[in-house]
Amino acid sequence: MSARKIIIDTDPGQDDAVAILLALASPDELDLLGITCVAGNVPLELTSKNARITCEAAGKTDVPVYAGSNAPLSRPLITAEHVHGQTGLDGPELWEPQMPLAEGHGVDFIIGTLRREAPGTVTLCTLGPLTNIAAAFNRAPDIIERVQEVVMMGGAYFEVGNITPAAEFNIYVDPEAAEIVFRSGAPTTVMPLDVTHKVLATKPRVETIRALNTRVGHFTAEMLDFFERFDVEKYGSEGGPLHDPCVIAWLLKPELFSGRGVNVEVETRSDLTLGMTVADWWGVTDRAPNALFIGDADADGFFNLLTERLARL
Ligand code: RIB
Ligand code: CA
Repeated sequence: MSARKIIIDTDPGQDDAVAILLALASPDELDLLGITCVAGNVPLELTSKNARITCEAAGKTDVPVYAGSNAPLSRPLITAEHVHGQTGLDGPELWEPQMPLAEGHGVDFIIGTLRREAPGTVTLCTLGPLTNIAAAFNRAPDIIERVQEVVMMGGAYFEVGNITPAAEFNIYVDPEAAEIVFRSGAPTTVMPLDVTHKVLATKPRVETIRALNTRVGHFTAEMLDFFERFDVEKYGSEGGPLHDPCVIAWLLKPELFSGRGVNVEVETRSDLTLGMTVADWWGVTDRAPNALFIGDADADGFFNLLTERLARL
């Protein structure tokens, strides 16, 4: 079976970086056509630098990395240095990447790739605010029906918010973009906090990764050593939730996950609940389902997959 063609749209972010490493470690299953960076956890200049650092850490510098949108569609940028540190990739010692940014804007790459590749053969893996995807859909509506699947980390329902009491960060930063994607009609699978908070990088799991005793093993463990602080302090959890790698793990082993096809709408007006993903989990409205909303995961199976793949780099 040929490898699945994917584009990763991302705002690295330690958990984004782990997701990118997982994809880079799985070339038999995933054909990573390119990485498009978006402003989110930290400004675009840093997310596009961190994506290249991650590729260099994996020794995979042939993947084109594009800079995309440097701000949400219609709002000022909100960042999350309090979670990811000033660099966005605090933890390991970092370096100035040698690989250059690819020529062109990330949104143009998304449009061009979807128009070039056969319809229904490219999956958009979104790990940050949905600004690039929404901008591409707005500028080139013809590409929407050519998308195989949007697999996004974003939103929350039973788990409620992590940046406000009601909203998850990726949706909160650009709720208008999220609304465009949810209403686009593109087949969409959502990895909300409901599931990502169940895949925690606990100490034993991080030590197993460190014990790989490879450059990638140490790089990953040192990122996770730093990344857990916010969630352990806020939730008292036993480790940092590996939000973004759930998107890639879904493509590699979907059987690790379970969810429900529901309607998801995004709050874009209320200051109180801006960015909230209103998932009709119990089917109490007549709104048509527009997303597979994942609620559960086999956490041990997830970390076994992640560790086995990281060992390949
Ligand atoms: O709320 C978690 C999401 O926001 C993750 O994608 C994390 O990297 C940040 O972008
Ligand atoms: Ca992210």
